[in-house]
Amino acid sequence: INTIIYESSQEASFFVANEIADLIRQRQKQGKQVVLGLATGSTPTKVYDFLVKFHNEEGLSFKNVITFNLDEYFPMEPDSIHSYVRFMNEHLFDHIDIKKENVHIPDGTLDKEDVRDYCHEYEDKIRTAGGIDIQVLGIGRTGHIGFNEPGSSLKSKTRMVRLDRVTRLDAASDFFGLENVPAKALTMGVGTIMAAKRIILMAWGEGKAEIIKQAVEGKIKESVPATFLQHHDNCDFIIDHAAASSLT
Ligand code: F6R
Repeated sequence: INTIIYESSQEASFFVANEIADLIRQRQKQGKQVVLGLATGSTPTKVYDFLVKFHNEEGLSFKNVITFNLDEYFPMEPDSIHSYVRFMNEHLFDHIDIKKENVHIPDGTLDKEDVRDYCHEYEDKIRTAGGIDIQVLGIGRTGHIGFNEPGSSLKSKTRMVRLDRVTRLDAASDFFGLENVPAKALTMGVGTIMAAKRIILMAWGEGKAEIIKQAVEGKIKESVPATFLQHHDNCDFIIDHAAASSLT
């Protein structure tokens, strides 16, 4: 893991958005597609703001972009205020020229018996698209990446998982109470994430400092899934000063 510390999340997000935009433009010149792995939550929103800005002000086109989101709560209706479908539309997809058929977000409306096949297909679609070129990640206080909570294995693939209590507590205010936070989610696996050609994990603020320290400096172990990223040879942690404050 390569750790890059910025003065502010704004500056860091500008840097990340530029890396993504550069790859999109480079592939456009070659007549090729780009596959992005995307995250939701508070961390990547400024990156999406910048991408929208580049689209509006510099004509950056997303016609050659295919996206796969990491996760979705289960069950979840796409039009719910809590859904990651709605989040992505509001923060990014509604404001750019991406083709609807190129957007993939795990489906929170499936019947339970269809989940297994659906998850296999999600993996197949990523592979068929050529694999993920850049995977954007946040990190949870449990050390989760996507919704791969403690106990997730290095080889895990897209599947249904049970959310950790800490993760549900962190989501409780958004859901107006812990009891309203779904117990489960669909998520890409650690193995799915590790197969990405490039990984950019972002973290802002003091609240992330302790888990960033563990992820970067700690022993690699299932109880802190983000430590698996230490095995990846093209993974940057792009963080602000506050999130870096516990690093030695
Ligand atoms: C979201 C996701 C999660 C978040 C993490 C941090 O798609 O996969 O792993 O990245 O929970 O959330 P925030 O950014 O809200 O602190």
